[in-house]
Amino acid sequence: MSDVGRRDFLVRTGLTLSAALLAEVTPRAIAVQPSLQNAFISWDDLRAQFPLSPQLIHLAAFFLASHPTPVREAIERHRAGLDADPIGYWFEHEEKQEAKVLQAAAEYLGGKPTDIALTDSTTMGLGLLYSGIRLGSEQEILTTTHDHYSTETALRLRAERTGAMVRQIHLYRSLKTVSRDEIVESLRKGITPMTRIVAVTWVHSSTGLKLPIHEMALAIQAINRSRDERDRIIFCVDGVHALGVEDFRVGELGCDFLIAGTHKWMFGPRGTGLVWGHPKAWPIARATIPTFNSQAYDLWMENKSSKDLPQAVHMTPGGFHSFEHRWALDEAFLFHQAIGKPKVTHRIYELNQQLKQGLAAMPHVTLHTPMSQDLSAGIVCFEVAGMVPRAIVEKLRQRSIVGSVTPYATKYVRLAPSLINSPKEIVTTLEEIRRLRSS
Ligand SMILES: Cc1ncc(COP(=O)(O)O)c(C=O)c1O
Repeated sequence: MSDVGRRDFLVRTGLTLSAALLAEVTPRAIAVQPSLQNAFISWDDLRAQFPLSPQLIHLAAFFLASHPTPVREAIERHRAGLDADPIGYWFEHEEKQEAKVLQAAAEYLGGKPTDIALTDSTTMGLGLLYSGIRLGSEQEILTTTHDHYSTETALRLRAERTGAMVRQIHLYRSLKTVSRDEIVESLRKGITPMTRIVAVTWVHSSTGLKLPIHEMALAIQAINRSRDERDRIIFCVDGVHALGVEDFRVGELGCDFLIAGTHKWMFGPRGTGLVWGHPKAWPIARATIPTFNSQAYDLWMENKSSKDLPQAVHMTPGGFHSFEHRWALDEAFLFHQAIGKPKVTHRIYELNQQLKQGLAAMPHVTLHTPMSQDLSAGIVCFEVAGMVPRAIVEKLRQRSIVGSVTPYATKYVRLAPSLINSPKEIVTTLEEIRRLRSS
């Protein structure tokens, strides 16, 4: 559709979007989400979709999503239905609502619904995948020293239970000199003939460093060319701080598994997440928790095997869930689609660059996150001379700026400008950090 045609379409459907956002909004996405109509006149209007306290500058919003209006309304709708008639509402909605969620996730990711397992969090996805992944006795899991508690602990638990070999490598020597080439080269050197699984984190919540996942995948593919299918390296990525930030299509990324919560940058309901797997990689995964997928359950009741169902179905753990949250997840994907992935990425990068450039110019601040957008995304980590990170975060909070301390052995102050922030808020934040020197 031409710009003029698109504008006509929006006028006819009664949409009043600003020129800036209009440029990226796809009519289809708007058409499927009536609740977003008239929603985005500006970034301020997008912010108004969130019931976030207006007194605060929220720079830790990624930690756990605040639900935007369409997500909140969908949750309320499903909650009311379930409260009024739990079994009736469940039977009426379970299959079609889960299908809608998978479809929205697949369209957003650029994958297929049958390749996606639904989980409750990144941690649940990592735990289920790494605990069940098939490994030969001579095969190892290669991971890094930069991963989050959830990856590290999931792998440790696997090793303790089954004796699986897990080896950690450093991907770079220093954040001051780190480059994409160094990271890819370190990975290449770290891989041995025994390496079957590579487990990494796309954007490190310890430092804000973003790994060049596509280039790492290409390096792995090159090694795989001389390997049998049963020895092929399977590349697993915790993508929680990239999903809803980076503009990518999962099928083109090159990894085998992408594991993420959808309750951080995606603004999905709290307690939601997913595992995407490449169709060729899914057979390596083994389920731990019985799925409640209706087809699988029906087959069980008929004493038939469900082994021909997609493995992603088996990897979607069953038992009843907080369905009002799970069934509202499609709204989060549609919310992002309505803004447009390139627009989302651009805005987050822009705000993060503004923050990093301001911090880098302050003599009392040491910025740890690389300046380059090739090596960073939406997380900025730094230190202030003479103050421990906790004290800085507390000081900022007293001045209505919400940040966090990296939950790792090495602690930094962490600020994460996101779609709900404005350049003016970053200016205010920088002013307060500048004042820390004199206070
Ligand atoms: C890199 C990374 N992975 C996983 C998690 C855990 O995510 P979830 O709360 O979705 O399990 C976090 C933070 O909470 C994180 O920073």
